[in-house]
Amino acid sequence: MCIRTPDRVLRNTPGSSHGLFSLSVQLSEYLALADAIAQDARALLAGLDPATRLDDAKGALNVVKDARLAALQSALRALPADDRRAAGSAFNLLKQGIDTAVVDFAARQRATDSGAGFDGTMPGRGVWRGSLHPVTLVIDEICEIFRELGFTIALGPEAETEWYNFGALNFPPDHPAMELHDTLYLGDRTLLRTHTSPVQVRTLQQYAPPVRVLAPGQVYRRDFFDATHAPAFMQLEGLAIDEGISFVDLKATLAEFARRFYGASRRVRFGPSYFPFVEPGAQMDVEVDLNDGKGLRWVEILGCGMVHPRVIEEAGLDSEKFTGWAFGMGPARIAMSRYDISDIRVLYDSDVRFLEQFAR
Ligand code: PHE
Repeated sequence: MCIRTPDRVLRNTPGSSHGLFSLSVQLSEYLALADAIAQDARALLAGLDPATRLDDAKGALNVVKDARLAALQSALRALPADDRRAAGSAFNLLKQGIDTAVVDFAARQRATDSGAGFDGTMPGRGVWRGSLHPVTLVIDEICEIFRELGFTIALGPEAETEWYNFGALNFPPDHPAMELHDTLYLGDRTLLRTHTSPVQVRTLQQYAPPVRVLAPGQVYRRDFFDATHAPAFMQLEGLAIDEGISFVDLKATLAEFARRFYGASRRVRFGPSYFPFVEPGAQMDVEVDLNDGKGLRWVEILGCGMVHPRVIEEAGLDSEKFTGWAFGMGPARIAMSRYDISDIRVLYDSDVRFLEQFAR
C-alpha cells in the first residue's frame, strides 16, 4: 500500500504485519495528508450523479478513503509525541467531515427524488392482502355459531378403517357405498374416509356423554370433478348425545343455526332422507338464488337424523339410556349458497381474481 502526500510517499514497512510507518512524519505533512483525503472525498461525492444509490456512493467513497485513513491512523505513532494530540484531533475532524459529506449527499439525493424524477400521478403499487378461502370462512363462521350453542371441536383421521367408516355406522357389509368405484381404498380394510361420521364413533368411545361436538374435515370419494362434485371436499359433522335428547332438539338446533347463519328471512325446510346410521333420517334444504338467472331454488345443505341405536351400542354406550342426533353438512355447498357460486370448481381453482374478493 502506498499513500501519496504532497511531497513524499509514505510506505508500509516491508514485512510489518500491522502496517506501521517506519518513517518519522512531520505534523505539517500529516495535516496536509488529512486535508488531501478530505478534499478527495468531497470531490468524489460532488462528482457523483445524485441518482446514485447511497450504498454505491459509499462503496466508491470507501475505495478513496478506507486504506488512506487506516494508514493515517497508523502514522499517528510515527509523529513526535508532542504533535500527536493535534494530529489525533485532525484525524477525528477528518472522519466527521467525511460523515457529514455523506449525509449531505443523501440529502441532495432525496431532494432530487422528490423533484424532477418523481411522478405523483403514478398508480401506487398493489399490495396483496391475503384472504381466507370462502370455504374456510364458512367453516369458521359455522363453528363460531355452534360454539355459542355449546359445541366443541373434535377431529379424526382422514385415513380410516373400514369399521369406523362403515361397520360401526350400521352399513351392512354389502352396502353399495363400500364399492371400489365409490371409495378410495388404501389397502386391506383401510380407506380415505368418505364422510366425517366416523368421528361420531371415535368421540363416543373417548368421551362420556353429555357430548356436543363439531368435526370439520376433509373427506374423499371416487367422484368425477364436475360443477357439483369433487373427489375431495370438506365436511362438517355435528353430534349431540345425552339422556333424553329428541328430534325436537335436532330440529330446533339446526333451525337456530340457519337463522343465525342466513338471517331470519331465509326459508329452510326439513324433509325425510336415509342414512344407515340415523333413524329417522332427514335433510335440511335452504332456499337460495345463486344469481345465475335461474331464480330461487331449494338446495340441500345437510343430512341429519337421530343417531341409530346400533351406532350408540357399537361405540360402547347403552342405547336405552342415551339418545342423540347428528348432522353432516357440506361447507362448499353452503359457501355456494352464501356467495352466489354456481360451479363448485371455482372453489378449487386457486384463481386469485376470484379469491381476492373474499379479502376482508
Ligand atoms: N355422513 C353423511 C354423508 O356424508 C351425512 C350425515 C351425517 C347424515 C350425519 C346424517 C347424520 O352424506
